[in-house]
Amino acid sequence: MEQRQQWGSRYGFILAAVGSAVGLGNIWRFPAVAYENGGGAFFLPYLFAIITAGIPILILEFTIGQKYRGSAPLSLFRLNKKAEWLGWWQLLISFVICTYYAVIVAWAIKFTIYSFGTQWGSDPESFFFGSVLKIADEPGTIGGLVPGIVIPVLCVWAVALFVLYRGVSKGIEKLNKIFLPVLIVMFLVIVIRALTLDGAAQGLDAFFKPNWDMILDGKVWIAAYGQIFFSLSIGFAIMITYSSYLPKKSDINNNAFITAFANSGFELLAGIGVFAALGFMANQQGVAVEEVVSSGIGLAFVVFPSIINEFPGMNGLFGVLFFLSLVFAGMTSLISIVETFIAGVQEKFNVSRTKAVLTSGLVATVISLIFATNGGLYLLDVVDYFINNFGIVTAGLVEVILIAWFFKGLNGLQSHTNAISDIRIGAWWKFCLSVVTPIILGYMMFDNIRQNLKENYGGYPTELILYSGVLVVAVSIIIGVLLSFKKWKSNALDKNREVV
Ligand code: PHE
Ligand code: NA
Repeated sequence: MEQRQQWGSRYGFILAAVGSAVGLGNIWRFPAVAYENGGGAFFLPYLFAIITAGIPILILEFTIGQKYRGSAPLSLFRLNKKAEWLGWWQLLISFVICTYYAVIVAWAIKFTIYSFGTQWGSDPESFFFGSVLKIADEPGTIGGLVPGIVIPVLCVWAVALFVLYRGVSKGIEKLNKIFLPVLIVMFLVIVIRALTLDGAAQGLDAFFKPNWDMILDGKVWIAAYGQIFFSLSIGFAIMITYSSYLPKKSDINNNAFITAFANSGFELLAGIGVFAALGFMANQQGVAVEEVVSSGIGLAFVVFPSIINEFPGMNGLFGVLFFLSLVFAGMTSLISIVETFIAGVQEKFNVSRTKAVLTSGLVATVISLIFATNGGLYLLDVVDYFINNFGIVTAGLVEVILIAWFFKGLNGLQSHTNAISDIRIGAWWKFCLSVVTPIILGYMMFDNIRQNLKENYGGYPTELILYSGVLVVAVSIIIGVLLSFKKWKSNALDKNREVV
């Protein structure tokens, strides 16, 4: 019988957890979220969200994984038999995310190559949407596969599945040990270079200038919580899965603090780098910084190419570093999402890691090709929006309410983690999880629903929103519940035995 896999060292686990947390969200999401929600003043709600939700939930998920030593469904089943479906739900959310996340990594690979000789030319916008994505005119149409995207997507999957096939310490840990340090070095070079550009100071001014009036706006606090959930990869089954490979004696609380602060450090660094670059661009065009602020796909694949175009010398190199950073940050996150269902499938269906990788990996690969079609970008946008605003938030809310209120699980988890951790957590931890987080997430969900009833997200047609947004969230819950009816092998009840 195969033994349960383990991280090779504590350092390996932290690198993998930070590798999962540090992703595209740090680079292209955080800077704009902070800027639009009060600039320097945003750090107050942001820190508050880290302390009341980010770190407490990270500790919760690390403890569940480390104590119950299983994939998210199995760990939650061992915590309480009625909690298994939640694990599947979170795992399915991860499944959906990975299908489009892989496609974004594939674009970044293409752009790394395009950077040699800045092949996007003088009109990066039509280059990206037209020449690269070959995007359909109308949202809601699928069109055909775009071969130029399909090939890099298949490459991304080949690498990810190979690493996962190699296993926890020989695959995931090893990859993170290389990718994360290289990512940090590349990113530092980018930030330093950006800081020395003309106009960088105006960019930083715009980023850090505090707008204290906004602090009273509920939206700002919602944005802070949303950023933290997404950024720390909590509520996705990821952290439960990764911590299930920790050795019996591991300092959980410390690991949670390190992961959270490393992730925020990288966010801050990205905010500085991105705004220095935006300041440079505004300066070149003789406009105010606020006119060039953007985020997400547009920032990375349209605005950055324009910035690189105007670069004073060595612009190809800057482009390569930037897009390769996206590739590295994205790859380590992608692998963490895929591992959630590799682990779940392996345990539930009692198959080897190799079989789990081949079967579920192949399914994910095929599904991800939907996003490599002419209509792929619209779909990606809608699915991403709904998964982020409803999937993750709701799954996180259900997680804290079930565990804290219904299963009264916090005391047991608290004594478990305190017994093996240096820093001890006290009443604040329980209070945050059972009161503060549910109230804020509940309000967030309510506000999201109200917003979406008022108008269609992005002005998209209602059918597209229903089929690709609402349906994806609903189906993931239903399949989650159905899977929890399938019985585990008998030794699943005993957390000291492995299900392999
Ligand atoms: N935490 C990642 C980020 O900040 C996001 C992420 C990771 C999303 C893993 C999904 C899966 O980008
Ligand atoms: Na992050």
